[in-house]
Amino acid sequence: MESALFETIIATAEGARGALTLNRPDKLNPLSSLTLHEIELAARWFDEHHDLKVVVVSGAGRSFSAGADITAFSEAAPMEDRQLGWRMARALDEMRAVTVARIQGWCVGGGLVVASGCDLRVAADTARFSIPEVDLGIPLAWGGIPRLVRELGPALTKELVMTCRPFGAAEARAAGFLNRVVPEAELDGEVEALVQVLLAKAKLALLETKAHVNAVTESMVGTGRSWADADGLFAGLRDQEGRASALAYVERLRNR
Ligand code: COA
Repeated sequence: MESALFETIIATAEGARGALTLNRPDKLNPLSSLTLHEIELAARWFDEHHDLKVVVVSGAGRSFSAGADITAFSEAAPMEDRQLGWRMARALDEMRAVTVARIQGWCVGGGLVVASGCDLRVAADTARFSIPEVDLGIPLAWGGIPRLVRELGPALTKELVMTCRPFGAAEARAAGFLNRVVPEAELDGEVEALVQVLLAKAKLALLETKAHVNAVTESMVGTGRSWADADGLFAGLRDQEGRASALAYVERLRNR
């Protein structure tokens, strides 16, 4: 087995299968600038492994990902970091191998962008989703809007992003965001069964299908158009009403 050296994620490849694991379980796998950059690098590293057919994307520990690292959330973030989220999502979209997200526990904000950048999604029935960006006074960035529109449709994307209401695996499945939902104890078995089905397919046909569907959806929702969504994020970080909303959000989080 080959592995690439990263600080916050683990990337491995062996024959036709690979794994990308977000690996800060004690903090619920937050997406810091470093993690975003590492996911982008890992996607390129996987592409160098020409035998790969399937890569399982998961989060270590009890949750998939709690989203953007809120300990590093400020307008003081270096300008060169502004496109990292968008580039991460694009790199996942463009990976040659088929990506299968394995989702348990919380999948929040940017975590949903990671999951929506994967081709297929399998979740535990106990998984919880939320998109709290607007409560944090910022619009959802990182190319999240076109990917959610692509996977959920525009009306539900607007509702979930604007209201920030959490939702469960059953609703995400009904909306078409999840391919399969199973009891938590069966999650690994279900992911493995799906991986085995994919591994048994001819590589060219499998990967061409992924690329073709992506080309079609790209012409439908155009993820490239959101390259400037970091501007809205930056503006939100400077907006007075947005800052007050973020303070209230963090206060609510503290007082749970
Ligand atoms: N960034 C950085 N650290 C985070 C984090 C994030 N987004 N989310 C959770 N953590 C850390 C917590 O601070 C805590 O660290 P500690 O044990 O050192 O105190 C640890 O992860 C566990 O989180 P905790 O809140 O105790 O877990 P929980 O199961 O009670 O709640 C959540 C889980 C996801 C509901 C809650 O952590 C949460 O709402 N986090 C913020 C999500 C968010 O706003 N993300 C940004 C999206 S833009």
